[in-house]
Amino acid sequence: MTLPGGCLASLHVQCSNREPKQVQRQGQIMATTAFSLAGKKALITGGASGIGATTAGILRDLGAAVALTDVNTEGLAAQSEALGGCLTFECDVSDEAQAEAIVAAAADALGGLDIAVNSAGVVDEVKYALEREMEPWQRVMDVNLKGTFQMCRAAARVMVPQGQGAIVNIASVNGPGGWPRRTAYGPSKAAIVALTKELACEWGPRGVRVNAVGPGYVATPMIAGLIEDGKIDTERLNNRTPLGRLATSEEIGQSIAFLASDWASYITGETLFVDGGWMAYGGAGDVKTF
Ligand SMILES: NC(=O)c1ccc[n+]([C@@H]2O[C@H](COP(=O)([O-])OP(=O)(O)OC[C@H]3O[C@@H](n4cnc5c(N)ncnc54)[C@H](O)[C@@H]3O)[C@@H](O)[C@H]2O)c1
Repeated sequence: MTLPGGCLASLHVQCSNREPKQVQRQGQIMATTAFSLAGKKALITGGASGIGATTAGILRDLGAAVALTDVNTEGLAAQSEALGGCLTFECDVSDEAQAEAIVAAAADALGGLDIAVNSAGVVDEVKYALEREMEPWQRVMDVNLKGTFQMCRAAARVMVPQGQGAIVNIASVNGPGGWPRRTAYGPSKAAIVALTKELACEWGPRGVRVNAVGPGYVATPMIAGLIEDGKIDTERLNNRTPLGRLATSEEIGQSIAFLASDWASYITGETLFVDGGWMAYGGAGDVKTF
């Protein structure tokens, strides 16, 4: 199927509305019957990799029908296969026409839209401000901030007339904190915290909740790239984190699922930091030796 904006959509067989159940993944219980997403229809950006891909599995395991979007078509096909088949849409979230077309097409195919998770994002160059050029800086803003806004707006165009819906954005501890060499990524994530509050206030009276999860460092392909390039030192991060390690993408996905669920029915405008205590720590140096 070809959609406006040159996007491609693939339709795979999907067994939706599965009963929620206890799920075993990699030897760990990853989701429980604590709450259910049975009957919910969810669209996840950045669904081809990392947090988005893992969240798709968790939402599906909790009973939601899921559709994935990403710029990475191979990754989308692989994730669809891993989920046993689901709707996938190629989409660059920074492109307004594509964002509008894909959300409308996904809602059409799913029969509505109850949950939108905006996990598409890019890291910046990790460079000092004085060395920065504007084009890569702008690209980070276009994907992380403009892309998130466009997908929120397109989702709300479906959810507001329905009178209900839940949107979950992805911020970062890089947003509220002041981090040298993160002058594109950090501001893009800080703006997502602000955007989440503003949209929550606009759409709350119309039944749509908007929240964000603010992860600390998470073991995903995004971070693997930074570690490989020597731009991140895992040991230093572990030592600075009260819980002493990076997060797994499952730990972030479970928080996203909670905020998307009716168990969070009175929560809106919040950014839930899922960071192993990173934001709580105010000491100097390693947390264990302070
Ligand atoms: N990994 C971490 O430590 C960490 C920490 C805080 C926040 N985050 C945020 O979590 C989100 C997911 O990150 P991740 O770690 O899973 O990274 P990831 O690289 O594994 O996944 C990001 C996905 O976004 C897709 N994407 C990139 N640009 C896109 C665009 N223009 N349109 C559509 N899709 C696009 C990529 O193809 C990829 O599949 C991002 O917003 C990231 O900033 C990650």
